[in-house]
Amino acid sequence: MSEKNRAVPQSVGIIMDGNGRWAKRRLMPRSFGHDAGMKRIVKLVECARAAGIRYLTLFALSTENLARPREELEGLFGLFRKYFEEYAPKLVAEDVAIGVIGDLSALPADVSGKMLEVCARSKRDAAFRLVFAVNYGSRAEIVRAANLAVKAGGEVSEEGFSRLMYTCGVPDPDFIIRTGGELRLSNFLLWQSAYSELYFTKTLFPDFDERQFKRALKEYSRRNRRFGKV
Ligand code: FPP
Repeated sequence: MSEKNRAVPQSVGIIMDGNGRWAKRRLMPRSFGHDAGMKRIVKLVECARAAGIRYLTLFALSTENLARPREELEGLFGLFRKYFEEYAPKLVAEDVAIGVIGDLSALPADVSGKMLEVCARSKRDAAFRLVFAVNYGSRAEIVRAANLAVKAGGEVSEEGFSRLMYTCGVPDPDFIIRTGGELRLSNFLLWQSAYSELYFTKTLFPDFDERQFKRALKEYSRRNRRFGKV
């Protein structure tokens, strides 16, 4: 089996959708769902490491999500703060590298500062890389890369263009999972997902547990990846 057809995906992306509906079903505010989502992240990172995945990219906040009510955003920023203070440093100590992609300038300065501090402490050659897409939009990322290419002058190859993306150094996702029932990518890793295998589940993110993750990985192992060849 070639490296690109490994049974376990090397690089995985997750669109973590459904926190709001999960909370609503419990007659709770949306922030309750995001809180459950953060706890789910903690568990899924463990599952991903145990499964042999090397790169995990989580869509934590889209550029469009920034238009949400202030109260919900404050709740999310509070969770980012908590995660990067309580959980991320422990992971870094366990040979996990943490990265953040997106435009951090819209976040409260203490939150972006904490994120960058943890990222800077991460080892380049860590065994596992966890990347959070925050205030991230794939089209904006592509336009940013195009502008960098124009400024540099000359022509760029596909590989060269990939290096201008926020995701430079992270292999394109082999597998993208979206929870919450919607069948779309919502501006997540559009350039990088050219040959990603896609997996959609109706399960709301806080309910996407180890069993469901394993089921998704099993489905991936059955996919026949041809990369346009016969
Ligand atoms: C989409 O669900 C989810 C988000 C906009 C936020 C995702 C955030 C987390 C899982 C927790 C954040 C914590 C860290 C550390 C990254 P939705 O709210 O749009 O759900 P809905 O479609 O049911 O309304």
